[in-house]
Amino acid sequence: MRVAGSLLGAQTTRFEQVDPLLPPAAPPPDGQVLTAALPGGDRVAGVVTHSTFEPGTATTLWSALQLWEMHPLVGATGGAGMDVLLREWARLQARTTAGPDSACLLTWPSRDTVAAQPLLAHGFTPLTSLAVRHFRAGTPMRRAPQAGVTVRLATPSDLETVLALELAELAYSALVGAAVLRPDAERVKRATVVRHFEQGDPMWLAERDGVAVGLAHCRLMDVVADSLIATRLRPGRWGYVNCVSVADDARGSGVGSELMAVAHHELHSRGATGTFLYFNPPNPLASVFWARQGYRPLWTSWELRPASALR
Ligand SMILES: CC(C)(COP(=O)(O)OP(=O)(O)OC[C@H]1O[C@@H](n2cnc3c(N)ncnc32)[C@H](O)[C@@H]1OP(=O)(O)O)[C@@H](O)C(=O)NCCC(=O)NCCS
Repeated sequence: MRVAGSLLGAQTTRFEQVDPLLPPAAPPPDGQVLTAALPGGDRVAGVVTHSTFEPGTATTLWSALQLWEMHPLVGATGGAGMDVLLREWARLQARTTAGPDSACLLTWPSRDTVAAQPLLAHGFTPLTSLAVRHFRAGTPMRRAPQAGVTVRLATPSDLETVLALELAELAYSALVGAAVLRPDAERVKRATVVRHFEQGDPMWLAERDGVAVGLAHCRLMDVVADSLIATRLRPGRWGYVNCVSVADDARGSGVGSELMAVAHHELHSRGATGTFLYFNPPNPLASVFWARQGYRPLWTSWELRPASALR
């Protein structure tokens, strides 16, 4: 792709202008190359990848089984470049057979808002945000326990409790976002949680009168150049907030805030200079909660299901 090098440089400059927390624009992976021309002669390009996820794998709990993903190289052409590329993609997708459990996905810097109109016009929904929070100078204070809850690290003997809270979060998120509550969700989640205990991921449980009412499942992550996550986050030690769930009848009473006060303090004490998470903008609880916790969108994943709906 001859145009790719100059487009990548221009795209990095564009990213720097729209959001200082973005890493440089990443070269696209291997896949089907698309190119398109704007009326003035400028050219844009993109790569479409296709993945199929096996039933029973963790990915199937937040993704359609068949996924087409576009990695755009639109340089500095803005919304016009995105629009002609999406037209090309729609032509390609019209020649492709996609089942009902399929999706088209495009992840773009949240603050590059010129891309939003063309994405909406082609049928995409801003379904998932990767949001970040940076610690201000110094470790956040560990507060005295509040909301009548105590917070402690979960151990493998808490597996059933952790699993129940994770499944409650999945069920809620499936109503308002990309998650899918599949028939084998409990088996898949159980295997995932066991693996996360084995790898030592910190999971905090909030208890009220000895009864678990909330979970914050996190991980420390060293983002190094050339890793997949380095296409989304700048290098450094990050805390990943994987799953936060408060029992239905305890929501809105400060449990989530208390869990995150502990999690932020502990993750920062372990060297994280920022934390990140994924949430669904249509989630009426999470969208308010995470903003109040100091998170703001860095990337937006625009999605369209099924893939045949791309227009
Ligand atoms: C999102 C969630 C973890 C927040 O935990 P929580 O214990 O309910 O939150 P808190 O009580 O600490 O509330 C913090 C803020 O969130 C908002 N909020 C959360 N739940 C609310 C509710 N049921 N009613 C009104 N406001 C609510 C409020 O703005 C509140 O701030 P305020 O107390 O200053 O007004 C919890 O509601 C939950 O488990 N939701 C379902 C699963 C989910 O969406 N998980 C997150 C996926 S990314």
